[in-house]
Amino acid sequence: MKINVGEQLSTTVYLVPEGTKLEMISDEAAQYALNHLKFKGNLNEKFIYLGPNTDNIVVVGLGHLDHLTKDHYVQAAYTAAKILNEQKVESTSVQIKPYGTVDEKNTLQGITEGFLQADYSFDTYKKEKTKYSLTSVSLLTDLKNAQEAIEEVRLLLEAVNVTRDLVNTPANDLYPETLANKVTDLFKDTDVQVEIFDKQALEELGAKALLAVSQGSSKEPRMLVLKYLPLGDEEPVISLVGKGVTYDSGGYAIKSAKGMSTMKTDMAGAGAMIGALHAIVSNNIQQNVVCVIGATENLISGEAFKNGDIIHTLKGTTIEVINTDAEGRLVLADVLYYAATKLNSKYIIDAATLTGAVIAALGQNITGTMTNDQSFLDKVTAASKTAGEDMWQLPITPEFREKIKGNHADLINSSINFVGAGTIFAAAFLEHFVEDVPWVHLDIAGTSYASSNGNKYLPKGASGIPVKTLYEFVKNVK
Ligand code: BES
Ligand code: ZN
Ligand code: ZN
Repeated sequence: MKINVGEQLSTTVYLVPEGTKLEMISDEAAQYALNHLKFKGNLNEKFIYLGPNTDNIVVVGLGHLDHLTKDHYVQAAYTAAKILNEQKVESTSVQIKPYGTVDEKNTLQGITEGFLQADYSFDTYKKEKTKYSLTSVSLLTDLKNAQEAIEEVRLLLEAVNVTRDLVNTPANDLYPETLANKVTDLFKDTDVQVEIFDKQALEELGAKALLAVSQGSSKEPRMLVLKYLPLGDEEPVISLVGKGVTYDSGGYAIKSAKGMSTMKTDMAGAGAMIGALHAIVSNNIQQNVVCVIGATENLISGEAFKNGDIIHTLKGTTIEVINTDAEGRLVLADVLYYAATKLNSKYIIDAATLTGAVIAALGQNITGTMTNDQSFLDKVTAASKTAGEDMWQLPITPEFREKIKGNHADLINSSINFVGAGTIFAAAFLEHFVEDVPWVHLDIAGTSYASSNGNKYLPKGASGIPVKTLYEFVKNVK
């Protein structure tokens, strides 16, 4: 879909807040919408007046002026795009009109995003590809640098779609080696240095926890370290760490068929970090960022690790594996420790499909956040608000730092008697490996993938969460 600053075309979209008088459309159409249809302007409420001898307009509500945010523009523009596609309209102009506290640039960028959000589908494996009729959008604005503002959103959404494609790709095609190849491809001809640790390099490094998880698979693990250092290699970096379990069967603590059915997405944290880095690089953001991915399968074989095994880690801490299905934290133990000690990290953010418990706590539309540094998390949360990606904090309290301690090993990877709050237990476990570097943990088990319909403007399948938040954070943090 092409989106440009342009002229009024025969079809026009208007996005309006509650209580609007619809002065921009003909009196006749306004009378009909307001008096007959009782159009109020509620969020996503629509008035469609298309076809011969009409105004050729789509009007979508933005909701109450007092609550108006940029994300409402995304939602309303997405609604308009869906309508136009259903009506087989090929091109439209859109009035860019800021209301309330949303400025013109955010209005423009929100609307641009809404149209682009309506343009994604994952068709790689289908003979018949989705065709959208709407291919050209002309934005009516006088904003200076409008074209640049559009381009920023276009590149951001392209990166979100990189994440979606990675997460949607099934595990027979996406496993550690192919993930490493795809990432190498993705960042060729950029300023990103791609370092890939294969099994032998991981053995030499001593990443024994990552290796333990991978033991049951005939596919070898990889660790990916992607360095983007526009400020030079002396300056500290923001580390983006991702869980890249390309398939999680649970191991000997095997999942049910239902539980396993979406486990190709257990690399969504890795996918998000790769997408976020892509957005940062393509938009030429001047921040040092390093992405660290631990990639492995969690399968079963005569070689697989077992419940009860005691394993070693890169840090030297030993772990009793109470449950082979709590494998993500084992992978992250090594990659977080690597980020904390081998890179000059001033901030570490990890994203991981870590616990089913976060879905019980917060559902499928809210990412669970945890931290060892409240002011850092507050900045990430602020970024998530701008991005329209809901997040909510869970506390890491001292009792949980006790609960993770082992009897025969230093730590246990899961509580022996179920005590609830599995999301917090997992975070307390991860915290042990970040060596007091300011750290934020994002548990995206609920938000990274929608088996049925996606939330708001998000597609079914991979959502691309939390790429937009990470981009906002990295772009703005001092
Ligand atoms: N990958 C899963 C978590 C998950 C569940 C992600 C549902 C997406 C949707 C993770 O490795 C896991 O299995 N966690 C266990 C931990 C438990 C054994 C302590 C869980 O949440 O049940
Ligand atoms: Zn698991
Ligand atoms: Zn997992």
